[in-house]
Amino acid sequence: MSEVVLIEELVSTVQVEQRKDVTLSVDSSSPRLTPFVKWAGGKGSLVRHLLPFVPSALANYYEPFLGGGAIFLAVCRRDTKFKAFLSDTNPELINAYKIVKSLPSDLVRSLSNLRRRYKSTPNKEDFYYEIRAWEPTGSIERAARFIFLNKTCYNGLYRVNPKGEFNVPFGHHMNPKIFDENNVAAVSKALRETHATLRTIDYRKATTACQKGDFVYFDPPYHPSSETSSFTDYTPKGFREEDQKELSKVFANLVRRGCRVLLSNSNTRLVRELYDDYSRKNILVNRPINCVGTGRKGFRELIVVGHLNQTSLTD
Ligand SMILES: C[S@@+](CC[C@H](N)C(=O)[O-])C[C@H]1O[C@@H](n2cnc3c(N)ncnc32)[C@H](O)[C@@H]1O
Repeated sequence: MSEVVLIEELVSTVQVEQRKDVTLSVDSSSPRLTPFVKWAGGKGSLVRHLLPFVPSALANYYEPFLGGGAIFLAVCRRDTKFKAFLSDTNPELINAYKIVKSLPSDLVRSLSNLRRRYKSTPNKEDFYYEIRAWEPTGSIERAARFIFLNKTCYNGLYRVNPKGEFNVPFGHHMNPKIFDENNVAAVSKALRETHATLRTIDYRKATTACQKGDFVYFDPPYHPSSETSSFTDYTPKGFREEDQKELSKVFANLVRRGCRVLLSNSNTRLVRELYDDYSRKNILVNRPINCVGTGRKGFRELIVVGHLNQTSLTD
């Protein structure tokens, strides 16, 4: 059977499945509220270090390098009495957030279909490449495809070729948890309660409207600690040294405007120099540092707090 036929078959199965009246059953007492994607540079392991620097009384929360949104979701576990402005330059990621927010049941239906097909097929690798080649036009299917690929690809990476096509190989995971229905529902609720604005835009544009008292968390692609690291290849253009320098100017400008600004990045000489004027904290994180999963030893991360007087925060 040709690839096109297989894809057409899949699309029609998804459509048929969608017509069935499936109700999203949610255990609302569930404590889940964690990223629905596995993201390179995800801040799950740094939540306890970063959260104390997010003010508890918040009006507007900006996270312009959203990724998996580990810190946003951790803040939502405290309360959701603020407005969220969430953005990233990855259009597939932002589309997925929009669908999680407004159509979680449809998304779960589409994901359930992919998961059922994946579990039942003897050749999971072929199925992965079939879905990778699929180009759905509907935003629900696009979101489901994106989440499915994120959970079954190599290391949860997101990488595209010069034509913008996702090109990460199959991940060979034993039993990937493609999604958690309760978590999708919990994230959806958090996005709705915070009236989240979700935009595919550059961080500079995302923060131009920030005003005094607003909180901004920057988690840019890491400044690589070695020339060979390809950890920053999130987008076709990457995030280079010049971008790190420009970000530090945007950071300084927001602090001058009275915003409360928090940033995390790798603890390299350049990053230390760029944020020399601010309160900083060193953290040693035990997790993979680059996209190929090597270097799984201690990684030094720097937290910069723009809204505190310059003090030496205890490490
Ligand atoms: C380190 S990741 C963020 C990880 C996130 N904090 C988490 O917990 O998963 C950096 C993100 O910045 C995005 N990005 C890269 N360049 C950008 C730019 N110029 N403006 C906005 N987002 C950008 C990437 O798509 C990626 O999702």
